Amino acid sequence: MDVIHTVAELRARLADERQVALVPTMGNLHDGHIELIQIAKPRAACLVASIFVNRLQFGPAEDFDRYPRTLATDCERLSQAGCNVVFAPDEQEVYPEPQEYTVDPSDIQDVLEGAFRPGHFRGVATVVLKLFNMVQPQIAIFGKKDYQQYLVLREMVKQLALPIEIIPAETVRAPDGLALSSRNGYLSAQERIESIALFNQIDGIRQALLGGRRDYGALESEATGCLNARGWQIDYVAIRRQSDLREPGPDSRALVVLAAARLGKTRLIDNVEVDMS
Ligand code: PAF
Repeated sequence: MDVIHTVAELRARLADERQVALVPTMGNLHDGHIELIQIAKPRAACLVASIFVNRLQFGPAEDFDRYPRTLATDCERLSQAGCNVVFAPDEQEVYPEPQEYTVDPSDIQDVLEGAFRPGHFRGVATVVLKLFNMVQPQIAIFGKKDYQQYLVLREMVKQLALPIEIIPAETVRAPDGLALSSRNGYLSAQERIESIALFNQIDGIRQALLGGRRDYGALESEATGCLNARGWQIDYVAIRRQSDLREPGPDSRALVVLAAARLGKTRLIDNVEVDMS
């Protein structure tokens, strides 16, 4: 496996590759990332994982500085998983001067995560477009754990006519149900036990929807109240359409329940899809 830090070296390494898959990451890899690698592996002759903690997608009060940087261990895991190239640029390589041209996603960037993290999806879309231009993959894999991110990027590829197939990957969970995330490492032992309540609440909504309930507002408030009572600070619990994250009507069938909430100093997000036939 080659570990490459510059675009020039990357271009040289990939010059003769015809089928490249890209798994973009911010490092500190867990089994969820390795699942993305496993999905990508059989689909391309050359598998590239990028590792770059993207300052542009963090708000001023967010965890950019303390975000875990674990390049050596990440490379070991990627090598074992069969990755061919790790692209780990430094900040100057990606943003050599103030990045004045950015990608502004559609209205979808203003709801849910976007409402609580202004500018976040501009930062994500901008860096992903740059990574696409640097790596020039035919395929890119994104986890559905970041559901809104996946939709934003799928739409970017469509609206900008990028010749890249976006493949979504299911969320990988710990045995108790907690969605794997690099930020889980911030949780204390006590908070780790409590953290499962977020998944339990959204999964409870999923079961209620499958059981026939359509009082979306009441379902959201019940879950919010329950989490508040357990000491969580809720950003949102929302039942939305899978296709565009708009509010569903009574006849909507493909839904997703999304939540973001803070437990102590750690902000967790999760979602579950609900398909009602
Ligand atoms: O999902 C992530 O880890 C990041 O948002 C991404 C897609 C690598 C862009 O920095």
